[in-house]
Amino acid sequence: MDRNINHDYVTKYLRALLPKREGLLREIEEKSAEEDTYVSIAEPETEQLLRVLIHISNAKSVLEIGTGSAYSAISMAMEGCSVTTIERYEKNFNISLQNIEKSKIKRIKPLFGEASDILPKLSETFDMIFLDAAKGQYLNFLPSLLRLLNEGGILVSDNVLYNGMTAMEGIAVRRKVTIIKRLRKYLEEISKNPYLLTTVLPIGDGVAISYKRKEELKNA
Ligand SMILES: C[S@@+](CC[C@H](N)C(=O)[O-])C[C@H]1O[C@@H](n2cnc3c(N)ncnc32)[C@H](O)[C@@H]1O
Repeated sequence: MDRNINHDYVTKYLRALLPKREGLLREIEEKSAEEDTYVSIAEPETEQLLRVLIHISNAKSVLEIGTGSAYSAISMAMEGCSVTTIERYEKNFNISLQNIEKSKIKRIKPLFGEASDILPKLSETFDMIFLDAAKGQYLNFLPSLLRLLNEGGILVSDNVLYNGMTAMEGIAVRRKVTIIKRLRKYLEEISKNPYLLTTVLPIGDGVAISYKRKEELKNA
């Protein structure tokens, strides 16, 4: 699905600058574009941003919430980090297992289940977290995410502008009221949280990047 929130000509131009994905990633991209029933994947510019952030932050370990087809997990792992990724929908989980196997990358650890059950049980901490699951749940996940993110780490939250609707005056689509209200609360929370330094980028479907401050700088 195209959730482009920018002028089409800007998005087209930015996408033309990105390197074309080859092999498995290209195969997943094509399936996602052609088959309505296939799992949706991160926008190309978001996927590229994840790769850039891994290197800028020197992330060695990533936690992903929302594996889908494992497109973003494989893409991030290709940059050299380990990826632990959570998926609750069996059909998508099975697709992700097939893709992970095809990728031959051993650094990806897929976990099956509801993130709100799994997150509190995780003991390992991570250098980067990519949040790409049900948008209405982001705020509920936040306490666990803060615990699981290392100081100096980065929380990347996808689809926070939700087709632009999060930023619109009022709420344009009534059936999206709850999700939009929750996304707005989430963005307010990560923007004012003393442990986080957050910026929201209007690329893809809106990506929030939050840096977890070191304890001594939390009131800076
Ligand atoms: C947009 S897809 C993920 C796409 C993937 N990150 C990529 O870019 O290739 C979102 C996935 O999150 C899963 N999901 C949503 N809410 C979840 C939750 N609470 N716990 C675990 N998985 C969840 C959905 O089943 C879906 O497969």
